[in-house]
Amino acid sequence: MNLHPIIIPMPLTCNSDFSQTSTPLLDTLWDSANKPHTAFYTPGHKLGQGISPRLATYFGKDVFRADLPELTALDNLFSPTGVIQAAQELAAQVFGASQTWFLVNGSTCGVEAAILASCGSGDKIILPRNVHSSVISGLILSGAIPIFVNPEYDPVLDIAHSITPQGVAAALELHPETKAVMMVYPTYYGVCGDVAAIANLAHEYNIPLLVDEAHGAHFAFHQQLPTTALAAGADLTVQSTHKVLGAMTQASMLHIQGKRIDRDRVHKSLQLLQSTSPSYLLLASLDAARQQMAICGEELMSRTLQLAARARSRISQIPGLSVLEVPISYYPSFVALDGTRLTVTVSELGLTGFAAEEILDEQLGVTCEFASLKNLTFIISLGNTKEDIDYLVQAFSILAQEYCQPVEQQNMSHPCVYPIPEGISNSILMLPREAFFAHTEALSITSERICDRICAEIVCPYPPGIPILMPGEVISQSALAYLQQIKQMGGFINGCTDTNFETIKVIKI
Ligand SMILES: Cc1ncc(COP(=O)(O)O)c(C=O)c1O
Repeated sequence: MNLHPIIIPMPLTCNSDFSQTSTPLLDTLWDSANKPHTAFYTPGHKLGQGISPRLATYFGKDVFRADLPELTALDNLFSPTGVIQAAQELAAQVFGASQTWFLVNGSTCGVEAAILASCGSGDKIILPRNVHSSVISGLILSGAIPIFVNPEYDPVLDIAHSITPQGVAAALELHPETKAVMMVYPTYYGVCGDVAAIANLAHEYNIPLLVDEAHGAHFAFHQQLPTTALAAGADLTVQSTHKVLGAMTQASMLHIQGKRIDRDRVHKSLQLLQSTSPSYLLLASLDAARQQMAICGEELMSRTLQLAARARSRISQIPGLSVLEVPISYYPSFVALDGTRLTVTVSELGLTGFAAEEILDEQLGVTCEFASLKNLTFIISLGNTKEDIDYLVQAFSILAQEYCQPVEQQNMSHPCVYPIPEGISNSILMLPREAFFAHTEALSITSERICDRICAEIVCPYPPGIPILMPGEVISQSALAYLQQIKQMGGFINGCTDTNFETIKVIKI
């Protein structure tokens, strides 16, 4: 019988001597995948031997050899002492953190963990109303009380920007017992608020600033990019490495610095929220993305910024199109713009963003990140080429020449209105957690009875995934009008039990 040679896997103890050129987790995964052995562990496909023939035809078998479970040599995500710890330490160095956690459930679980780690049931947290739905999930899980601050809203472009230091200061004065401040930095549009000023304000109350930096994992690598949240003083930040760098979808990182964050609670919260069978392909892709950026991040970002600048300048010269730029005068909700994020306003062509998205995607072979009523947003990243940019510019030229409509056809009559008054608000009538678990009934969105009822679900145009209504919030006529308008104009409303968005679940009275 031909037995494999017996190799006893050596658990690798963390070694701070690893250099940034190394990829300890990726290399150990590769070695484990190639080590001759007979597998009697999960996953059931056993190193790819049992995968469906169609899957093998489409993707090849190789990648499945590395789809391994927590073998001894591969360390353990929830009590790392070996290669995962080494990889996380290398990431912390590069991203400027004192500790970094790898995430396999996206920034979604990082944002939820950030809230769970800093707020318990009944604790207050100050946050922008234009948060991603993962924040609402964090509120439901924790039972925390949201104190919402309205973002500044650009009604011409129909884009919500950041919250302002003034808004946060006022909220802190009214609610000095608040346990944490959270902000989105940058927004999905790449817009950056005054994170340093907001960090200072939070620290005056000796509470942490938590930052949803899902779209800013590349900021550390080039001076022309906005400062990172950590460099500006944030205590905790969550980055979707997969959105803008080279990691695989779902692979993200949570970073902390300083003493205001309880590390054990972050750890426990992540354990609560993540699979006990984390994908090593995702984890290794984080290790590889970190190494790639540590070695040539500046060069890659220089190139990406140049490509984005080329797209910006050419598209803005096309009649009928304009691109989002940093305002000339100071706006505290818009102090910087990620130059790699491109938002093109198409409304002057007489098209909605949704119509332009469809034409670009289906007829001109260009697919954007997301469309909104008036705009299309594109993520330009290290994976794009000059040819991609030229193709994009050409597609926009054709769109402007051949598809424009008389501008009167537009009907942007309902601006986006978050259902809270100006400034700060206790807009919610019931805690998101209570509303989530309450008895509910479905009411038609056209029924007169629905206005002023308490919403029981997240109602969210997706993308960008920012809820217009959330559990516990009063349903206003203006929010309904905005949502109906988005649906009529071809947008997609997510989060409701009724996927056709004809009814919304409300709290039963
Ligand atoms: C602002 C923001 N925060 C958090 C998330 C969640 O990130 P992930 O997709 O990595 O779970 C997203 C996703 O689009 C987002 O846009």
